[in-house]
Amino acid sequence: MKRILLVIGGGIAAYKTLELIRRLGERGYTTRAILTRAGAEFVTPLSVSALSGEKTFQELFDLTDEAQMGHIRLSREADLVVVAPATADLMGKLAGGLANDLASTALLATDKPILMAPAMNVRMWQSPSVRRNADILARDGVKFVGPNGGDMACGEYGPGRMAEPMEIIAAIENALAANKGALHGLTALVTAGPTQEALDPVRFIANRSSGRQGYAVAEALARHGAETLLVSGPVEIAPPQGVKLVKVTSAREMLAATEAGLPRDIAVLTAAVADWRPDVAANAKIKKSDQPENQNGARSISLVENPDILATLANHKHRPRLLVGFAAETDDVLAHAVAKRARKQCDWIVANDVSTDANGNSVMGGTRNRVHLISDAGQEDWPEMSKADVAQRLALKIAEQFA
Ligand code: CTP
Repeated sequence: MKRILLVIGGGIAAYKTLELIRRLGERGYTTRAILTRAGAEFVTPLSVSALSGEKTFQELFDLTDEAQMGHIRLSREADLVVVAPATADLMGKLAGGLANDLASTALLATDKPILMAPAMNVRMWQSPSVRRNADILARDGVKFVGPNGGDMACGEYGPGRMAEPMEIIAAIENALAANKGALHGLTALVTAGPTQEALDPVRFIANRSSGRQGYAVAEALARHGAETLLVSGPVEIAPPQGVKLVKVTSAREMLAATEAGLPRDIAVLTAAVADWRPDVAANAKIKKSDQPENQNGARSISLVENPDILATLANHKHRPRLLVGFAAETDDVLAHAVAKRARKQCDWIVANDVSTDANGNSVMGGTRNRVHLISDAGQEDWPEMSKADVAQRLALKIAEQFA
């Protein structure tokens, strides 16, 4: 269900806003209204609430309201903010960054798109200052519907009449559609981080993966509208915004959580899954004296191979439509990555060089990445950039693929 925050400014057209609220309700929108002081001269809070079925908000400094529903929350809990009628005053305040009442404060505080349906006298609409403010607002990304031309309540003729409720609804639907990401309607799965393979209750085999690249990919896919599941090994990163996170420890748990998340349209497997695990994980801490020694004094751990999650997904009955693997390599990066793509039967491989830096330290676990994208179309070499930028570029590439 889509939520509209409706700011009702002071103008005779406010009566049409009541009709707008009713039409929105019929279409399944929830509407919460802020009625400005001037708006309340034209319509009453009671009629607005009766039609919206929600409390109507009026004063910024009403302490009860602020405690229950701050202006910030009010403006963020909506999918779209609609100003109807948008008066010269409201336009001017937003264009100038002014906030001295609930309506202007909510407009300034919102992180959602704003649609304005201006209504004012034709001379006011044509005045240089309102023209200037309309330009500023349009440049800032505010969308407009109307005003329409015609006879005005004040007896003059020309543009200034507020758009009709059905025109405003069409503009609301366009604004909401434009706001959907390119991956809206698609589902995605990302694996990230290392896995830990237990030797005993206190020891494990793992690797240097930080999980940063995978978390950034999950966040970028979600930001572009994909419903995203992130299956993560043990890492020290805060959960990304808008993503469902499932935490696992071992490769086998990661495989189970990944398969449980299918079917998905897109899967990006960035996890550095441990290829091997100890044959047996001891129930009690292994003691120094427990292990047999060979003649050279060496001790050995017997390892068995872990399941390959990428290869499993490639042959799964719910194979994702786009399956992307990552390949961290220290030498012959491209040749290994090309071979890996063929062997694991994934669609794309993102290959990165994790060999040591000038000081001989491993670059795995850093914040930047230099990658090559290998697909049917060939190979793309991306310049070095932050992991967040790699994720963003990959998400755009995926969006192109599904366009
Ligand atoms: N991968 C996986 N499950 C595994 C091993 C790897 O899903 N058990 C995935 C990784 O998430 C990555 C890709 O396969 O997307 C390549 O991982 P990599 O460790 O480079 O591949 P390996 O199979 O380990 O190849 P090699 O040891 O030959 O480098």
